[in-house]
Amino acid sequence: MIKISPSILNCDFSKLGYEIKRIEEAGADMIHIDVMDGVFVPNISFGFPVIDTVKKLTSLPLDVHLMITEPQRYIDEFAQRGADIITFHTESTSEKNIGDIINQIKSHNIKAGLSVKPNTDESVIIPYLPELDMVLIMTVEPGFGGQKMMPFTLNKVKRIRDAANKIGKDIDIQVDGGVGPTNHVEVKASGANVFVVGTAVFKAENPADVINLIKENF
Ligand code: DX5
Ligand code: ZN
Repeated sequence: MIKISPSILNCDFSKLGYEIKRIEEAGADMIHIDVMDGVFVPNISFGFPVIDTVKKLTSLPLDVHLMITEPQRYIDEFAQRGADIITFHTESTSEKNIGDIINQIKSHNIKAGLSVKPNTDESVIIPYLPELDMVLIMTVEPGFGGQKMMPFTLNKVKRIRDAANKIGKDIDIQVDGGVGPTNHVEVKASGANVFVVGTAVFKAENPADVINLIKENF
C-alpha cells in the first residue's frame, strides 16, 4: 500500500489553506514539511509558525523532514507543536548521537525516521532499523524541490528493504526528490512505500489524477 506525502515546499504560500485542502481531498496520506536551516543545506525554508499553521489546517499526520544541523536542539519543540513523524539526517550530527536522537523523538510517542543524502552509504542506518519507524532515502541532493530523481539512489532503497526483511521488520521506506508519475513504477519496484511528491502534485492541474496514478487507484 503506497502512501503519498506531498511536500509543501513549493506550494503557493499565499493560499496555504486552499493548497492543503486541495491535496487532502486529492488523497494525500500525510503532509511533508521540509525544514531547512541554511547550514545543513544551502537553503532556508520555514519553521515553527508554518508548522502551527499547517497543524490547524489539517488532521493529516505531519511528516517533518529536518534538514538542520544538530537536530536534537529542536526536536522537543517540533513534537510539542504537533509533528507526528520526525525524520533527521545521519549527516547532521555525529554518529554517536543517532541512537539518542531516535529515543528523543520516540519519547514523545511519535514516529522516528532516519535519512541519508544520495552520496551517503545507507549501511549507517542498518543498526538502527529495529528502533526506527521510517527510513528516508533522499533521491535528490536535499535543499530544493523540482529536481530530477537520481536513479542510483533506488539501489539504496532495495538494500534497506532487504535488510529490513532479513530482520522481519515491515518498515516504511520513504523516497524524497523528483518522485512522480514519470518514475513511480521503478520507485515502487525498489521497495519504497512512502512517496514524497512536491512539484508533481502541487503544479498539477488535478492533484487527484497524479495521486491516483501513483497509487494505481483506477
Ligand atoms: C528537498 C526536499 C523535498 C522536495 C520534494 O530537499 O526534501 O521534500 O521539496 O519536492 P519535489 O517532489 O519537487 O522534488
Ligand atoms: Zn523532504
